[in-house]
Amino acid sequence: MRKMVLNLFLQGKGHHEASWRHPKSSPLALTDFEYYKSVTRKAEAGLLHSVFLADAVALWDDIDKAPHNWLEPLTTLGALSQVTEKIGLIATASTTYTAPYNLARYFASLDHISRGRVGWNIVTTWSADAAGNFGDEAQVSHSDRYARAEDFMEAVCKLWDSWADDAILDDRSGGIYADAARITPANHSGPFYTVKGALNMPRGPQGRPVFVQAGSSPTGRNFAARYAEVIFTAHLVKETAQEFYRDVKSQAVQYGRREDQVNVLPGLGPIIGSTEEEAQRFAKELDDLADIEVGRKRLSGRFGGHDFSHLPLDTPLSARDFPDVSTVQAARSRAELIVRAVERENLTLRQLLQKLAGARGHGTFVGTPEQLADYMEDWFTSGAADGFNLMPPILPWSLDVLIAELLPILQKRNLFRTAHEGETFREAMHLDRPALSSDGRGH
Ligand SMILES: Cc1cc2nc3c(=O)[nH]c(=O)nc-3n(C[C@H](O)[C@H](O)[C@H](O)COP(=O)(O)O)c2cc1C
Repeated sequence: MRKMVLNLFLQGKGHHEASWRHPKSSPLALTDFEYYKSVTRKAEAGLLHSVFLADAVALWDDIDKAPHNWLEPLTTLGALSQVTEKIGLIATASTTYTAPYNLARYFASLDHISRGRVGWNIVTTWSADAAGNFGDEAQVSHSDRYARAEDFMEAVCKLWDSWADDAILDDRSGGIYADAARITPANHSGPFYTVKGALNMPRGPQGRPVFVQAGSSPTGRNFAARYAEVIFTAHLVKETAQEFYRDVKSQAVQYGRREDQVNVLPGLGPIIGSTEEEAQRFAKELDDLADIEVGRKRLSGRFGGHDFSHLPLDTPLSARDFPDVSTVQAARSRAELIVRAVERENLTLRQLLQKLAGARGHGTFVGTPEQLADYMEDWFTSGAADGFNLMPPILPWSLDVLIAELLPILQKRNLFRTAHEGETFREAMHLDRPALSSDGRGH
């Protein structure tokens, strides 16, 4: 029977914008590895499939009011791989701001080090501030970022596939270490990248990292349909999640892929209490701690720095208060989601900012564990999700509650696994290991 995939999105002291101010969030510094270690071990003990670290390659401009994950994801996951045994480890890395050869080495190394547990969240980097950190005057446009990413993917796949699995013979008596004929140069020559190859290390246990992606614009969906094995996506209502789910799966099939090789995981930031009233109280506590100006700044970042400062807080907004979404060079689909929510729900700016404070435009839920299980089961069985990207509002507290109160209900309903499976992350996710063709190359 099909079961839910659950990923932990480990961000800051939790996903609610005010989590760091809440007495229940961890007192440890966000530069303290103990924090990442203890949260990830909890997720592993709770049988979650993976833990995921995001990355922006730029300092956020709300540092005066909000902490973020400061540690670089690949290095952090390298350390986490040594203090965990089963959980998948997903690192974000940008196709816009590194070279294919570097990235292929980092991930292949981590795949070896973790014994096959690494996943790559493929991003083109939506943050405009990142450009200046890499010598670019302006942000690469949305369409050019995706065009580069296509070429980048071809190059890294050739690199990961440049070694046959059995290239190393380690024949001590015969004196032959490796069969050089089973190591093929990448010889990639594309519009943006030229890579001679081969990679300077053997193929990792998984062949390639598990490909994770979160593009949701038409271009982003097309990219996800071609490559992604796990898709993160943000939806406030089930109907848009269903439309997204149908669309990416059918596009993946058109590319010759099987639907079960593409796991769609909408984000979910749940606040649960033993009664509905208690959950509402927790939600209000958090919302009362949120800072309107942080929300306004983040909204501005979503729309390429657009100024929202003149807008009154308590008058209903309209689509005219936002720039034309097709001109947005950041994460275009998120900008679209925000404008649609304003139109659908007739929100004031204060209400919009409150809605985004919980999980930045991902689904939120306030209620009892049973009600949350019903909500998740409904999305899972009605073609909206293969599982969820869990975004606990407060860490580690909300994760503890989810593991103790929600997961047993899902397990009782046969919707979530009761033991770890497989040796590698790929095996745990029932994903095929990429094959190599007879000339030693998969792509
Ligand atoms: C759950 C989730 C996590 C994401 N993490 C990152 C990240 O760490 N770094 C980044 O630059 N973009 C991140 N993104 C943004 C996506 O890569 C992508 O730019 C965004 O979903 C918009 O897609 P679009 O550009 O196709 O509209 C994330 C998106 C989602 C939904």
